[in-house]
Amino acid sequence: MTASIIGQALRRPDGPAKVSGGALYTADTPVAGATFAALVGSTSPSGRIVGIEDEAARRAPGVLAVVTHENAPRLAEPAGAAQSWLPLQDDRIRHEGQPVALVVAETLEQAQHAARLVQVRYAAEPARLEFRDHLDERFAAETNFPADTAVGDVDGDLAEADTVIRHTYHTTDRHHSPLETSATIADWDGDQLTLYDATQWVWGVRSAVATEFGLSPGEVRVLNHFVGGGFGCKGFVWQHQFLAPLAARIAGRPVKLQLTRAQAFTAHGYQPGTLQEITLGATAAGNLTAIRHHSVSPTSIADDYIEYAAISPRSLYGCPSIETQHRIVRVHRNLPTPMRAPHEGPGMVALEIAMDELAYELAIDPVELRLRNYAETDPSSGEPFSSKRLRDCYREGSDRFGWDGRPMEPGTMREGHDLIGWGMATAIMQTFRMPASARITIDRAGEVVIESGTQEIGTGIPTIMPQIAADVLGVDPARVRLVLGDTDLPETGGTFGSSTTLSLGSAVHDGALRLRARLAELAGGDVGLDAAHVGEILARSGRERLSVEGSWRPDRGGARSMHSYGAVFAEVRVDEDLRITRVTRLVGVYSAGRIINPRTARSQMIGGLTWGIGQALLESSELDPHLGRYLSKNLAGYLLPVNADVHQVEVAFIEDEVDLQASPLGARGIGELGAVGVGAAIANAVFHATGVRVREVPIRPEMLLD
Ligand code: MOS
Repeated sequence: MTASIIGQALRRPDGPAKVSGGALYTADTPVAGATFAALVGSTSPSGRIVGIEDEAARRAPGVLAVVTHENAPRLAEPAGAAQSWLPLQDDRIRHEGQPVALVVAETLEQAQHAARLVQVRYAAEPARLEFRDHLDERFAAETNFPADTAVGDVDGDLAEADTVIRHTYHTTDRHHSPLETSATIADWDGDQLTLYDATQWVWGVRSAVATEFGLSPGEVRVLNHFVGGGFGCKGFVWQHQFLAPLAARIAGRPVKLQLTRAQAFTAHGYQPGTLQEITLGATAAGNLTAIRHHSVSPTSIADDYIEYAAISPRSLYGCPSIETQHRIVRVHRNLPTPMRAPHEGPGMVALEIAMDELAYELAIDPVELRLRNYAETDPSSGEPFSSKRLRDCYREGSDRFGWDGRPMEPGTMREGHDLIGWGMATAIMQTFRMPASARITIDRAGEVVIESGTQEIGTGIPTIMPQIAADVLGVDPARVRLVLGDTDLPETGGTFGSSTTLSLGSAVHDGALRLRARLAELAGGDVGLDAAHVGEILARSGRERLSVEGSWRPDRGGARSMHSYGAVFAEVRVDEDLRITRVTRLVGVYSAGRIINPRTARSQMIGGLTWGIGQALLESSELDPHLGRYLSKNLAGYLLPVNADVHQVEVAFIEDEVDLQASPLGARGIGELGAVGVGAAIANAVFHATGVRVREVPIRPEMLLD
């Protein structure tokens, strides 16, 4: 018997191509006769366009077309796209950076040069920019989940609580900032459209673009081979994905359109800042009796996006009364969108700082407080959890970090000029599951190909899908290859919601089981599938290869509350005089079901934890309050953690967990979980170091001055 291949730390087969520059990302795709598009963005956040002078641009070298609202063909309102409107259709300005003109030229340089020659005059109108200035205009809407929930009697339980803490917390606007900005290449052949697109969801793009251009889905093919990060900004279909095919129609040539780094701040969404009000009531013994969590966040002028920051307390702690609420405020800004980790990411900053405050109010160790409120069933729905090993995360995390013996009192650990602090927080992320399908083919040489229209976004899918198939088939995973990123292949959901491993993995698992059964049938009994044997079986049945379709749908029956969990521990050192914070140690221990590949899983969590350092200390998309423009539309001004900011990071999973309620693989979601809890763990560590309670991220040195 061979050892299980699932669970092995296999290396990435696509690693060498990526580090050697051999991997082709969307904009690298060679397309014969391709031209280049450049977008001109509005410099005003609101009002109307009153004049466009584009003669100079039209006469500039290499220019093939200049498209504005004055000459663009009228298109239908987009369906299935992030936003309900398209630019270049009217004179209305809805946010700074909104495309107001598009130039197509023979070369990228010519397009960018001509784009600078387009002169647009605006009649500006007063803009609403900061949602916190317009809270009286907040309103309730509903997108993915209910906006409000309530169980129990929060007011009654707060009135009887021994201790009540009530505070307001703030998170800031952040941008995804993947290395590869969004890019689309549109190539028409009559009414047949091919799009090479940096997307997290080729199927979503196909359907939205087909509808927009009056094509059948079969007339649109969407492809990508590698996606250079997305983190949510490539999850929905944005305007450039319609503008590229529009421009290609007008120019009569294939068009490449890649967002500049500056445009990546406004041409797709961002993670909106939040204002969160939390009230916790508890007994003197530290049992929560009431949780009230309300969140407000901005949305665009035309469309609704809700950051469900108050979603976590619906499921996290055992508590008889829980009330959650979400409101949004319209501002003249681009539409927010999910960003790893949406909802739980910003929400748990607030909830977990609040829990730390409660721990200090009651003088109970922060880990102990969470254990006293451990939920054995979902506190809102009463449903059992599919599987939950959070208690083990607290225990193992405490051990690995050395939490026991931590002095409770802030400001008591120091070394030289460094004030040292230890903080912790819980991580929770809902598990999303999507229907998926895959085709698996084995040939006489024993080579296996898995085909599925999923996306390679850096998470390790080309490593672990072969691993899953190899495990079932009993073949060497090096002989199994994944072909992906193409709507001509079997359909899957988007690469978002931390759903791909468990969803597509379950379809691959199903396909491999079917393939094995078919081979056994042909061979007249279940046999070992070594290459020689497979060749013999196929030859005997007169086949070159054998293909089967595998699929998976999440079952709706047997209601279970499904989440992945973790416990995050942080050590910070705050310079006594300069008040600069460094995160010197992070330990994250996670309960996420069965781990298919500990190497790629660990990579994802390290990425999430690193991003948490950004959330806690660095990242903020500052907006000019008059111009409505992000101040630093580049990676010099938008601060992300770099290697020098990342010290010791330790990641572990609860190894023997298998969640067969979530998926036949036993896996749940992990991708976004790593970015949850870190912000609060660091903020709590900063309090422990300095005694200064900061209820806002990112934490800046000036917030820590006495
Ligand atoms: Mo993720 S924010 O669902 O790409």
